[in-house]
This record gives sequence, structure tokens and C-alpha cells, in this order.
Amino acid sequence: FMFAFRIQNIMTVILGGIYTVIQTKAKITVDEWGENYFMMGPYYEHNFQTQVEACEAPLPAIRGAMDALISNGCQVFFGRWLIEGSPYVLLFDVGGASGNLDRWKGDLWDSCNIGLPSQDHEAGDALILGSLVAWFFKELTDRLGDAPNVIAHFHEWQAGAGLILSRARKIPMATVFTTHATLLGRYLCAGNVDFYNNLGKFDIDREAGERQIYHRYCLERAAVHCAHVFTTVSQITAVEAQHILQRKPDVITPNGLNVKKFSAMHEFQNMHCSSKARIQEFVRGHFYGHLDFNLEKTLYFFIAGRYEFSNKGADLFLEALSRLNYLLRVHKEDVTVVVFFIMPAKTNNFNVESLKGQAIRKQLWDTAQGMKEKFGKRLYEALLKGEIPEMNNILDRDDFSVMKRAIYATQRHTLPPVTTHNMLDDATDPILANVRRIGLFNARSDRVKIVFHPEFLSSTSPLLPMDYEEFVRGCNLGVFPSYYEPWGYTPGECTVMGIPSVTTNLSGFGCFMEEHVSDPAAYGIYVVDRRFRSAHESCSQLTQFMFGFCQQSRRQRIIQRNRTERLSDLLDWRFLGRFYVHARLLALSRAFPDKYEMDPMAPPKAEGFRYPRPYSVPPSPSASLHSTPHHSDAEDDDDEDEPYDEDEEAERDRMNIKTPFVLGG
Ligand code: UDP
Ligand code: G6P
Repeated sequence: FMFAFRIQNIMTVILGGIYTVIQTKAKITVDEWGENYFMMGPYYEHNFQTQVEACEAPLPAIRGAMDALISNGCQVFFGRWLIEGSPYVLLFDVGGASGNLDRWKGDLWDSCNIGLPSQDHEAGDALILGSLVAWFFKELTDRLGDAPNVIAHFHEWQAGAGLILSRARKIPMATVFTTHATLLGRYLCAGNVDFYNNLGKFDIDREAGERQIYHRYCLERAAVHCAHVFTTVSQITAVEAQHILQRKPDVITPNGLNVKKFSAMHEFQNMHCSSKARIQEFVRGHFYGHLDFNLEKTLYFFIAGRYEFSNKGADLFLEALSRLNYLLRVHKEDVTVVVFFIMPAKTNNFNVESLKGQAIRKQLWDTAQGMKEKFGKRLYEALLKGEIPEMNNILDRDDFSVMKRAIYATQRHTLPPVTTHNMLDDATDPILANVRRIGLFNARSDRVKIVFHPEFLSSTSPLLPMDYEEFVRGCNLGVFPSYYEPWGYTPGECTVMGIPSVTTNLSGFGCFMEEHVSDPAAYGIYVVDRRFRSAHESCSQLTQFMFGFCQQSRRQRIIQRNRTERLSDLLDWRFLGRFYVHARLLALSRAFPDKYEMDPMAPPKAEGFRYPRPYSVPPSPSASLHSTPHHSDAEDDDDEDEPYDEDEEAERDRMNIKTPFVLGG
């Protein structure tokens, strides 16, 4: 049996990379393990009611183990999680079992000498959950006896207690622990420490103590050392773990995605077009009265994710945007870049100015529709009489008044707002503080405009009614210049949708792409060097990437999107799932060496998966910077159906014909 401990932040449901891993991986794991795969986690009544179809556990041993807990006053729920793959879920009511906390703190202390302070409720909840899980596994393995064997896979420090207690109690099962980032690494990086150059030099116990996370750090480190197999998501985090957690990961388990292939090769290009049209609608409203820039020549860049200002590289991004604004202005480029920051912060709803912008846009639309109706009707009447109407008279004075009033309503005395919401910490917010410093206030002369949307996107929003995926599809470039990014889903998600992105060689994803793609930039993956260069140099490189991107013609962007999308196979769980399979087999062979002999086969490698340099001239910024190849002035000469006089390879790119790659190794 395969149990995966689904970890969510115990107090709040986190949205972010870890959630994406767990949720997307379910499908291939169900394909492999079928009815023998169970995800576990904390019970939330609302989520259970809306996302889970309750049912009876299929196996007597599981029902028996659940009953053992239930008869002792602890609530356990079972059902199918309604996501792709519909995996079984086993959910434990943490709040209902909180009366046991003090006793279980004692048990934890007795088993491994880790004490939890009473003020850390999250750690307390993690312990309650862990105690319930370890207890459940005890009851289960007692009932199963020798067969079948159980593999339990725990993710993150919050799940650590369950693993530590299970091992202390010698529960016969194979265990895997995956860390998606180290607790201390995240803290140290966020605190402006020169992390990667000092990895070996930190006094880790003291650093954890000073940040008041010593007990959490102990839970994490103990879980890492208790597990039969320890894994992490990238090479860069493996090095970090080795120093911070003092164990070298046995397997690297990169994060995948469920790649949906469209039957028509160009479907994702069409989707880009229609999603972009929706973003343009938002922009028409947000910048009302200031629409003196050409929307046909406007590019949409964005950054998204948890709001960790410097870890996510928002600092570097803002600095580079300020330089980009300057470059676009002095080179008199007619391109405008609208940049979205999608990072949740504390807010008090949308602000009036942003809502008003959309209302005004709607009003202009309605006015235009009304006029169109009138115009059409009068034209029709005239034609019926066999006349061509006098165009100047077809609308009367009232109609003109209505239109003038609508136009007057678009006058504004303020600049289009930088943020869409009322920020609770307006004065101290790091994005806003830096926008103020660099002075990017959406002035008419600015070629770079900023829209900070401090909330994750939702299709029910009155402002920007799009879900995240749809939004990404409509953008031209995702920019994720992270400093601390163990994996980084956001650029990968862009890739499978055929949207180019910027990443760094400090992110797991960026390193992975550098390893597998000869010329990532040609495929629309721009890897900023944040490892071997100064912050200033990294910023210049990022600026050049973006400036080069702005100089591409539409045709070059289309070719580049085709190439980007071709990398999808590499990021698909159907390929990357093999590393999880390997980790589980390794755990079985270590827990039950007599029964499961590890195939002497070396751990699976992805090295054979390598994308060659594309044959045609890369539409990469570095190339276009020096020579600006094929730069077309006719930006909006559309494009797809015209005869195309590039060389044959470029034609392959344009048509998105697969470049052969080698799978093996
Ligand atoms: N995301 C989302 N809605 C948004 C913006 C982001 O659901 O409006 C998701 C995005 O799809 C991605 C995750 O947030 O899967 C961020 O993951 P990443 O690995 O980039 O960062 P982490 O949260 O792990 O630091
Ligand atoms: C897709 C569509 C084209 C459209 C283009 C816009 O390729 O199929 O019809 O012109 O997107 O691309 P852009 O890079 O300018 O957003």
C-alpha cells in the first residue's frame, strides 16, 4: 500500500508550489497504485464538504484502524478527493483531538527529546496530526501482518512528527521523506544573507534558535534522518539540505505537471490570443483616459507566487523594470510593457479607482453597442427605401451628447493606479515602497506600466475575471528571477502552456532546464545567472533579456512560443514520476531487505533527455540584441497564414514540428 501524507499548512490551506505537487501527482500515482493509494492530511469540514466524496473505506484493515481511533474519541474521515485521478483520502480531525496535546508532547519528548513550546500552535497541530497518523499506522500494520507491506511518504516538516513517531515505535513500514525546501534555508535567504556562498559556514543550531524555529527545525531534521529514503526536489536544494539538514538526499524527485496535449498543434497559440484579448479588456478599463499607447504593440509580463519579496526576486525584477523603462524610452521604442505582480498581501478589498475603471470601460462598451444598434437600424431603414443615408445625419444631436458624456467620464486627474486593492500595509509594503523609489507610477511617458494585484486570481473577480491558467496563457512573458526557489512551478507552468519565461540558476527548475536544453533561451527559457554574478550584473542580464524580448517581432514570438511548448514532455509527470517510483522501491528494499531486493539498476536518470539547439536562428534576446535578426516593422501584419520566406528549419519551428530528442541514458 502506498500512503502519502498530504501536507497542507495546518492552520490555513496553502496555495503554492507544494499544493501543486501533491495535487498534480495524484493522477499518475493512482494509475500506478490504483485502489491501494491513499492520501492523508488534516480534516477541514468545509473542504471535505466541497471537495471530497465521502465513502466507506474499501479495506477491512483500514476500516478497523479507523474504528480504533474513532472509538477512542478521534475523528477520521474517508472519501475520494475530487481532483484528477480521484485518489482516496484519509483525513484526521486535528481540533477534535487537541485534548491529547500535552500527553503527545510528552510522547514526542520521550521518543526523541524534542520539546514544543506552547505558543507555537502550528507545531502543536502538526504534532497532533503526526500522533494520529502514527497511531493509525500502528493499528493498520497490526491488522495487515506481513502482507501487503506499507510505504508511507511524508512531505515537509509539518508531516515530520508522524514519521518520527512511527519509526520510534518500530512500525513495520517503508518510509520516504521529501523536503520541498529547508525551513532554515527559506528563513536565511529571506533575511538578505549571502546564502549560497556561505552554505558550509552557518552555525545552524544557533541560526534556528535565533529565529525561534529551533523546535520546528528539529522536527524537520529528525524526520530527514529517520526516513529510509530522503528526497528533495532539485540539485540545488540537495546541496542546501546536505548542509542545513546534514543528510545527502538519496533521490532527487523533480516536480512535474499533468501536461494536456491538444490535438491541434496550434491550439495553444489560439488560446494565447483569446486570453490576451481578455487581459486587454482589463487594461482598457484600468488605464482609461490614458490609452495613448497602442494595445497591438503592448506586451504583458508577469510575476506570480507567494509574496516573498526577495526570495522570489521581485526586488531584482523592479530594478530591471526601471532600467527597461529607460531603455525603451531612449530607444524610442513604440512597445509598451504592462507588468502584473500577482502576489497575495493583506488587503481590504479592491480599490474604488480600479473598480471605477472597469465600470467606465463597461459604460463605453454599452454606449458603443447602443449607438451601433441605432446606426444599424437607421441604415437599414434607408436602404429599404433605396437610399444611401447621409452619414453625418444618421446620428442625431442627442446621440452625440450621449457619446460626448461618455467620453467626458473618462477624464481623470489621477494616474492609473499601481495597485488594484486597498493595501493594509501600504506604507511598508516592499513592492509599493520600491515602485515609489524607482518612480514607475504609470505616467503617460512610461513605457513600463505596473499593475500590482495583491491576491491570487479568480474567474469570479469583478476586476480581472480570469483564473490563473487563463491569465498565464494570455501573457507574453513570465518573469521569475528568484533567489531562493527549490523548484519553482511558475516557469514550468508557463512552459507547458507555450509561454516563455525567465528563471534563474538558483531555482531548481532553471538548473533542470540548463541540464536538459542546450540553448534554453532559444526555447524561451531565459536563465538569469544569480549564482556566479553580482546583483548588479544579474540585474543587467535580466534587463537585456527583457529588452531583447521587446525587440522581437510578433512572428518571432510565435516561433518562440512553439519552441517553448515543445519542452512540455520533459516536465510531464509521465516522465518525472519515475523518480518517485524509484524512491519508493529504494525505501522498500531498505525497510524489508529480505523481501525486496533493489534491482541493481542505477537510479533513473534524465540525462538522456536533451533538447538540441534549434536549427534556425534563435529568436533569443541575446541574438536579437546584437543583430536583431528578422526584425519586422509590421508588428501587426498577421502572421500565421501568410507565405513565409524563412529557411526550412524556421518553418518547422513555426509549424511546431517536433525536434527529435533522445530518451534514454
Ligand atoms: N498560483 C495560483 N494562482 C495565482 C498565482 C499562482 O494558483 O494567482 C500557483 C501557481 O499555479 C503555482 C504556485 O501558485 O503552482 C506557485 O508555485 P511555485 O513553485 O512557483 O512557488 P512556491 O509557492 O512553491 O514558493
Ligand atoms: C497567436 C495567434 C495569433 C496572434 C498571436 C499574438 O499566435 O495565433 O493570431 O497574432 O498569438 O502574439 P503576441 O506575441 O503578439 O501576443
